[in-house]
Amino acid sequence: MKPLITLALCACTAVGGLAADATFTIDATHSAGQVSPLLYGLMTEEINHSYDGGLYAELIQNRAFLDNPTAPAHWSAVCDPDSAVVLALDTTNTFNDELTMSLQLKVTKADKAHPAGVANDGYWGIPVQPRTRYHAAILARAGADFSGPVKVAIVSDEGQTVYATGTISGLTAVWKKYELTLETGQVAPTAAARLVITLDQPGTVWLGLVSLFPPTWNDQPNGFRKDLLQMLVDLNPKFLRFPGGNYVEGDQVETRFDWKKTLGPIEERHGHPCPWGYRSTDGLGLLEFLEWCEDMKAQPVLAVYAGYSLSGVHVNPGPDLEPFVREALEEIEYVTGDASTPWGARRAKDGHAAPFKLTYVEVGNEDWFDKSKSYDARFTQFHDAIKAKYPQLKLISTIGNDQPQASRVHSRRPDMMDEHYYLATDEFVRKSPDYARHYDRSGPEIFVGEWAAHEDAAIKPWDVGARTQPPTPTLKAALGDAVFMAAMERNADLIKMQCYAPLLVDVNPGARQWRPDLIGFDALSSYGSPSYYALQMFSRNLGDEILSAESAATPVQGCATRDSATGEIIVKLINPQPTAESVKIEIKGVAALASKATAITLAGSPEDTNSINRPRNVVPVTTQVSGLQPEFVYTLPPNSIVVLKLKARP
Ligand code: AHR
Repeated sequence: MKPLITLALCACTAVGGLAADATFTIDATHSAGQVSPLLYGLMTEEINHSYDGGLYAELIQNRAFLDNPTAPAHWSAVCDPDSAVVLALDTTNTFNDELTMSLQLKVTKADKAHPAGVANDGYWGIPVQPRTRYHAAILARAGADFSGPVKVAIVSDEGQTVYATGTISGLTAVWKKYELTLETGQVAPTAAARLVITLDQPGTVWLGLVSLFPPTWNDQPNGFRKDLLQMLVDLNPKFLRFPGGNYVEGDQVETRFDWKKTLGPIEERHGHPCPWGYRSTDGLGLLEFLEWCEDMKAQPVLAVYAGYSLSGVHVNPGPDLEPFVREALEEIEYVTGDASTPWGARRAKDGHAAPFKLTYVEVGNEDWFDKSKSYDARFTQFHDAIKAKYPQLKLISTIGNDQPQASRVHSRRPDMMDEHYYLATDEFVRKSPDYARHYDRSGPEIFVGEWAAHEDAAIKPWDVGARTQPPTPTLKAALGDAVFMAAMERNADLIKMQCYAPLLVDVNPGARQWRPDLIGFDALSSYGSPSYYALQMFSRNLGDEILSAESAATPVQGCATRDSATGEIIVKLINPQPTAESVKIEIKGVAALASKATAITLAGSPEDTNSINRPRNVVPVTTQVSGLQPEFVYTLPPNSIVVLKLKARP
């Protein structure tokens, strides 16, 4: 059934003699539809150094020397006036066929007091934490002129403080992996540090890959940064849409997310250029995405490459597309097949014997950009092949109601359609009351696979100008996010899943390509934007029954749901105005309401925001309210988002 939101002018007087500007009427006599239990999830891709330098906990930037074929980016020589070293990239002397570059260190002068070698500056610094064990792995070989030890240390930028140190020895002419632990003492946290590798005698050494990990989430090898994963878990996500976004498409067919190349030990992953202007190590590959879902107790929503890339190239439907359809089928088998299947066996060999649960597969990304208009035929080809082998899977078309009817898939009926909305707050405030009200309830389910409010219509997220703005949004944007989330909840019988995008941003100016983003971080710390907290307030307070709600005479927007197990009624209200608003809340069909309830409020000035230095400037505040009856007046502060958790008896 379609939930109802209407705006009408009326004046009302509040119970208890209080005057209210407006009413918010909730019909609790019956459920107006089931809330999709998958409603709140996350969308992710490699953008803004989300993975490399972010969630993927590797600390060495350009660990395999492949970022720039002409110079060892992020690596620099270490020597003093009494030592000397020459660094050179080498394509002839490499660990294997995947790591097609090595770094040669030719130390011509060094002794114990004057070592020479190379340093890596990390992803905008190497984070040093007190009493912490770092795991280093180094692929190395030596020339005939060297047999001594190699010192590995985490050292302050200016070279004066050694935070942790270790040694590898026994290097020979044969490539080998050396592993060691570097442990810090009681030091003050800092990111003004580098990883330094030095020799204390002349000789030649080649490095094929240098990796350094801090402790990871659940101590998983090749794992995730703990603080960032915790922030994601705290959003209570039910699904993860990956690997994009534009990242699944790549700029060219050759630079798509080629999942087979992201499997196995990191020394077997060549990496690839990501469409956001830097190279991905592919350290966070297909299995890591799936394990990330597992860590969050969320379902994967797997996007497969569908023959369209960002530069505008497409693969013709028919025989040309067949290899890509096969790749998608194999990918699904890698995710869901048991060990008796070839790709299920490969997953087991990679370390995960149990198949993953998969319900949704998205075919491509934003295929409305494909000027050749081949998506209908490409979708059809994927659809028929996937449904033939996996009839239980639900397939998502990347063209939804936000695009003209003519561009949508018509040869097959998608199970779900993906819509994307990047709008200014004012636009969300204007459009949300009507959002999805008139959608055909018998049509495909809806996935809002990317959305975010930005503060100012003049600065679009993809404009270069946006990159000069703070990377994460203000409270003003969070108000836009909240009115849209309320609209999606009102329509959560049809909107089965939704996710904000992008999720993560390294706040260093050189690291980012897009704003606004939900969570900001640097090498040492992370914080949630006001939008993060708005999302958390919504996703952690979700009932399972939609209750119809009507706003009257108010700029306040909102939604109501009920938890059928407890009877709790959850009311979400947003006041996007700079003045307080008193709203008379009428709940029909409720005999009694506990006089006390919990209110969670996010409020402030529109320009208020959070940052690395002020991570908790705008956060939700939980209070108890009392004196409630089935009709009561609630005054919303200016610029506020409020969740009321009411205990009701029918
Ligand atoms: O979220 C950033 C980008 O916006 C996504 O990669 C793309 O799908 C959309 O255009």
